[in-house]
Formats: sequence, structure tokens, C-alpha cells
Amino acid sequence: MNLLDIRNVKMTLLLLIGLCAMTSAYKITQLKVPLYADPRRAAELSCHFIMDDYELHSVKLYRDLDEIFRYNPSQKPQIRLYNVTGVMVQGGECESEWCLVRVMPAPVATQAAYTCEISTEGPKFMIARKTKQMTVVALPDRDPVITGAPRILKPGEQALLNCTSDYSLPASVINWYIDDELQKPEPWLRTELSEPQPGGLRSSSRVLRLKMPPETTGTLRVRCEAVLMVEPPVVRDTSAIVTLLSQTQLSKYVSKADINTAHAMNIAIVWTLNKFF
Ligand SMILES: *[C@@H]1O[C@H](CO)[C@@H](O)[C@H](O)[C@H]1NC(C)=O
Ligand SMILES: *[C@@H]1O[C@H](CO)[C@@H](O)[C@H](O)[C@H]1NC(C)=O
Repeated sequence: MNLLDIRNVKMTLLLLIGLCAMTSAYKITQLKVPLYADPRRAAELSCHFIMDDYELHSVKLYRDLDEIFRYNPSQKPQIRLYNVTGVMVQGGECESEWCLVRVMPAPVATQAAYTCEISTEGPKFMIARKTKQMTVVALPDRDPVITGAPRILKPGEQALLNCTSDYSLPASVINWYIDDELQKPEPWLRTELSEPQPGGLRSSSRVLRLKMPPETTGTLRVRCEAVLMVEPPVVRDTSAIVTLLSQTQLSKYVSKADINTAHAMNIAIVWTLNKFF
């Protein structure tokens, strides 16, 4: 049944109830709806109520304006489930003072209002309602990972660093910082999204072009931040330290590197010989 069509009638009834019985004995004592639902598993919603001297006609659960569950103790079947866009109703059960419903949210980062509505038996069919919001979200388990960060950067050199976030829903936004200064993304280095995993989770990645400014030495702290735009935002980050070499430091470094190269060549030669004999 459409909630909007009957809302006015119900509002009037509620007003009458308020006027006639200042202490309404039938009521919803608690509506349990998880604040966050993981799109990879069913969420359990429960509605707890007391009827006192009233007889229960029905318990209904709505997702926004759509009815997804109905319990009529005097009808057969007592429980009816309704799949609607955005949610699949897996099942439910009721006792005299509560109903429990399992819903599988669609793999989309959305927020929806879940309303429990109880109604007394006719002819009055008086109702009570409670509403709570549920947001579909999958938080990342791990910090983002930086690849391609050089330990040392020489004058005039540049490096391409890649930061990849863990899978999440919604996908993370990637921010790069150099010494705590937010780097504006270059137009050709925007956040890329992976293919979706079960539950709609995706990982994001974005490349930072790190240029060695002339006449600079010391170290740079490069930090990558993966931000999940939920309320409040969830932030995970990772840092890398890059040492900048001046021209004078460079000559020392090069002579050391030459030794390393020579060593590597020895190994290569030995390996080649082994292959031949
Ligand atoms: C809801 O959808 C699921 C999956 O498509 C299906 O298995 C189930 O029977 C449907 N339930 C109802 C009440 O239509
Ligand atoms: C960055 O790394 C991710 C994960 O390995 C990869 O999918 C993506 O293509 C990389 N981006 C670039 C521009 O190399």
C-alpha cells in the first residue's frame, strides 16, 4: 500500500489518539537499525513493541516509502516480504513483542530511512511509528599503499608515485601532500577506480609527479590520504620520505653507486658463465 495515500488519514487518527488517550498503551519501544550496513552481508533490523490491552493487527516495515515487510498474525501467510529497488528482503520472524527482518542492501553507497509501523486491530486500526536511517558503506581495512617512491631524488629528476587505496564503498578520494601541503591534481593525473568487487567495493589510485626543485636539499615527506566521503569522513594515510641530493652530495653518491654497479656486473658475469657451463 502506498504510504503517502494513507498518511493523511493516519495523521488524523494520530491526532485523535493524542486527544482521546493521553496515555497510549500500544507503542514501539525500540527500533534497532544499524547506522552503517556492509553491502557484503545482510543487515538485521528489529522492531520492539508493547500492546498492553490492545490486539496487534499488523507490523510493517518500510524502506523510505516502500513497504518491504508485513506481519499479520491473523492471516496466512503471517509474514510477507516485498523486494524493492535498493534492497532485497531475505526473511523475517516475529514474536508477540518484536519482529526481526534481514535485508540485503544493494551495492550502492546510499542512505535510506527505515520505518516500523504497528497497528492495533480494527475497527480503529490505530498506529504507532518509529524511523531510523541506515547508510550502506564498506570501510577500508588497510592504509593506502605508495609505489614508485624513490629513496633519493637527484637535481632535475622527477618521479611518478602511485597511491592505491584499499577497497571501499564509496570509493576513496585520494589526496597527495608534500610536507603537509595539499597538491593540486594535474588534469591528466586524476583518481582512477578499479573494477567493482562483490558488494560494489572499489579501490582508487592516483599518481603524483614529484619534481626535484633546483637548489634544494634535505628531505621531503610525501603523504597520500585516502578519504571516504561519509559523515563523518573516514581518513587513512601513508607516508614516504624522499631524500633530495645536491650536486656536491651527488658526486659522493655517484662514486658509491659506481661501486654498486661494478658489483652488480660481477654477479651478472658469474651468472652468465654458470649458464654456459
Ligand atoms: C527477492 O529477490 C531474491 C533475489 O532475486 C529472491 O530470491 C527472493 O525470492 C525475492 N523475494 C521476494 C519476496 O520476492
Ligand atoms: C597505480 O597502481 C594501481 C594499482 O596497482 C594500478 O591499477 C594503476 O593502473 C596504477 N596507475 C598508474 C597510472 O600506473
